Amino acid sequence: MGTVQEQRETPANAALQSGLTPRKILVTGGAGYIGSHTVHMLLAQGHDVTVVDNLSKGHRHNVPAERLHELNLSDTAALVRLMREKQCEAVIHFAAFIAVGESMREPARYFINNVSGSLSLLDAMVQAEVKHIVFSSTAAVYGNPHTTPILEDFPIQAVNPYGESKVMVETLLGWFDPIHHLTSVCLRYFNASGCDPDSLLGEEHEPETHLIPLLLRAVQTGNPVTVFGDDYPTPDGTCIRDYIHVNDLAQAHILAVEYLIGGGTSEKFNVGTGTGHSVMETIRAVETVTGQKVPYVVGTRREGDPPSLVASSNKLRERLGWSPRYADLRTIVEHAWKFASRK
Ligand code: UFG
Repeated sequence: MGTVQEQRETPANAALQSGLTPRKILVTGGAGYIGSHTVHMLLAQGHDVTVVDNLSKGHRHNVPAERLHELNLSDTAALVRLMREKQCEAVIHFAAFIAVGESMREPARYFINNVSGSLSLLDAMVQAEVKHIVFSSTAAVYGNPHTTPILEDFPIQAVNPYGESKVMVETLLGWFDPIHHLTSVCLRYFNASGCDPDSLLGEEHEPETHLIPLLLRAVQTGNPVTVFGDDYPTPDGTCIRDYIHVNDLAQAHILAVEYLIGGGTSEKFNVGTGTGHSVMETIRAVETVTGQKVPYVVGTRREGDPPSLVASSNKLRERLGWSPRYADLRTIVEHAWKFASRK
């Protein structure tokens, strides 16, 4: 498999040619799944991107080598130096641990990495006078909502340390705005999935816990995937999620950065399609795309899984003009399959 370094980077004047203003943006966690897709899109649009990643979860091959700075977020002084040197205008902050189940076993690691890391980053931004941040938040801040679609003003009630760590960072951002005039957009992702169909980027978590890559792996290996419960109060008894294409997520970040640099006030937005799909529907989509049966067994419920999480993204559509390009599950699965079946 090739690497992203081998791909041609779009000429630096791409943004000017398209009428956009090139921005100097620092991306934390830019070697990870959603981060690398966003970096790729920013570069394609002609922006000047600096990536910070400690490669504890991200992959070196996801980022052009000359863009990557291997740093821990806890190194505030190094972040200040880098932001000053690169004259950053804004930060997009992805770097975080993301596994809900792991967070229930090792909460301290999640709070140290996700909350302390973010606080160090915010401290560095204040020192370097970088005034805008787009933050990777999550639908997990809503816990187990009683109705869907979920609106941004639903109660915040995380039910695991992962979700709580994101709530805490949203709270920090709420203080840094009035005190330090640091404006933020929190993007609350629903189920990020798929991959860029035209690059070598894809979903490579280790271990993988997400449904779509696991279903594709089951097709490839013949080892059955476990459906976590079929006794939920949903039409077919399996959990419903709002699968959002990673490129559409990436685009939301770029719109959010432009919004903040253009003087927009701090905001929180859901990012989803507004359509939910059950686990069984997702299995059928994988079977249609791959032309093969998905081997699966039905197991017990996974602790902490809400029956249904579907976003209302009307606020994001109306305020930032966002609309998903790949809103159907079949296209998402097609793109994920292209990556999973690469040679
Ligand atoms: N599922 C299975 N079997 C598996 C894996 C998943 O049945 O082997 C089911 C889950 O129970 C769930 C659905 O498939 O109903 C999706 O599960 P994922 O693990 O792919 O995603 P989650 O909805 O659990 O979590 C995602 C992100 C989290 C984030 C959360 C917010 O991965 O980081 O959405 O809602 F917190």
